[in-house]
Amino acid sequence: MASSPAGKVNVGIVGAGNISDIYLKNLSAMFDNINVVGIADLVVERAQDRAEKFGVGAFSVDELLAHPDVEIVLNLTIPAVHAEIAGKAIANGKSAYNEKPLATNREDGKALLAEASAQGVLVGSAPDTFLGGGLQSARKYLDDGLIGAPVAVSAQMLGHGMESWHPDPSFFFQPGAGPLFDVGVYYVQALASMIGPVARVASMARASFPERIVGNGPKLGEKIAVNTPTHIMSSLEFENGVIGALGASFDVWETTNSTLVIYGSEGTLRLPDPNTFGGPLQLLKGGETKWTDLPLVYGNTENSRGLGVWDMANAIQTGEAVRASGELGYHVLDIMTAVLDSAEQGRHVEVESTVDRPDLLPLA
Ligand SMILES: NC(=O)c1ccc[n+]([C@@H]2O[C@H](COP(=O)([O-])OP(=O)(O)OC[C@H]3O[C@@H](n4cnc5c(N)ncnc54)[C@H](O)[C@@H]3O)[C@@H](O)[C@H]2O)c1
Repeated sequence: MASSPAGKVNVGIVGAGNISDIYLKNLSAMFDNINVVGIADLVVERAQDRAEKFGVGAFSVDELLAHPDVEIVLNLTIPAVHAEIAGKAIANGKSAYNEKPLATNREDGKALLAEASAQGVLVGSAPDTFLGGGLQSARKYLDDGLIGAPVAVSAQMLGHGMESWHPDPSFFFQPGAGPLFDVGVYYVQALASMIGPVARVASMARASFPERIVGNGPKLGEKIAVNTPTHIMSSLEFENGVIGALGASFDVWETTNSTLVIYGSEGTLRLPDPNTFGGPLQLLKGGETKWTDLPLVYGNTENSRGLGVWDMANAIQTGEAVRASGELGYHVLDIMTAVLDSAEQGRHVEVESTVDRPDLLPLA
């Protein structure tokens, strides 16, 4: 039996890279139901560095995954090992929460859900930005009927990719990443959480440039071979009949970087960048020409990474359903895989999985 401080759920972290800082900062300072036991990484010094900085324990990966006090393993490793690390955590009787994507392919994602169910533990997956004040407020306005019945969506994540600034950008151009799995995932998940599950997709995709040149850091000037589509345009048909457009590109010059719009029978909602937690959120009422800013009615509008872990800890304590759940993460993975399959096969592809929309957070 795990021993945790009163009212708290013990979390152990695997992966002490880039994103671990904000998680460690938020989990300790922002959420009163979480106690961070410690952190582990393949690169031992990285775990030790983070452990010292945030006053938590440093462990080997195997020690952390088997630690008797750890109840949730927060998996901040690279996508290629998300399934492996979460699988080991689950086999040890821990709940697992993965950074995005849940896994890099359907088989691994499905296996995680089945193993968690067999073990009686929970599985969850980022992004958790849809639990932030911007997207929760948008969902509330939508559910309250502000724009009537949803008819269409447009999600466009358009830009030129990461090679100009990232010190080691090769992985962005390999299978399992690319503009859809790396960034488009925020748009797909925001839409699935607000509009509901996607039934089928039809796409076209290509890599407009066969290689990229590293523009920054120690690898400056090195060539990267592009091995995954970097320009993807897809039509999505949701189970409720909404039809929309999804674009994800690293092949165009674009500075606004995000448009996520829901068109309803009575008006249009322009949503915030789904890779953020706040606003702006804007409304265009049917028949009018001027957009108005809508007030955000939910909190957590700053960088609140960790909200999904907080929600999972809450689910462990109360028995409520997890919002950033493995089922939602799997459906998003299934949609993204179907989008690429459709482009490759030149046909509509049905999305086999389905999922219920997660509940809105309580307004208080
Ligand atoms: N960096 C960001 O801004 C950002 C934002 C949102 C989400 N994410 C997601 O967070 C995850 C991590 O991203 P990052 O930017 O921190 O990457 P990173 O490369 O900086 O860190 C990943 C860490 O995982 C460790 N690792 C790799 N394989 C391991 C294994 N088998 N066992 C234990 N540790 C292992 C690496 O040593 C490294 O320290 C990814 O899924 C990414 O998509 C990153």
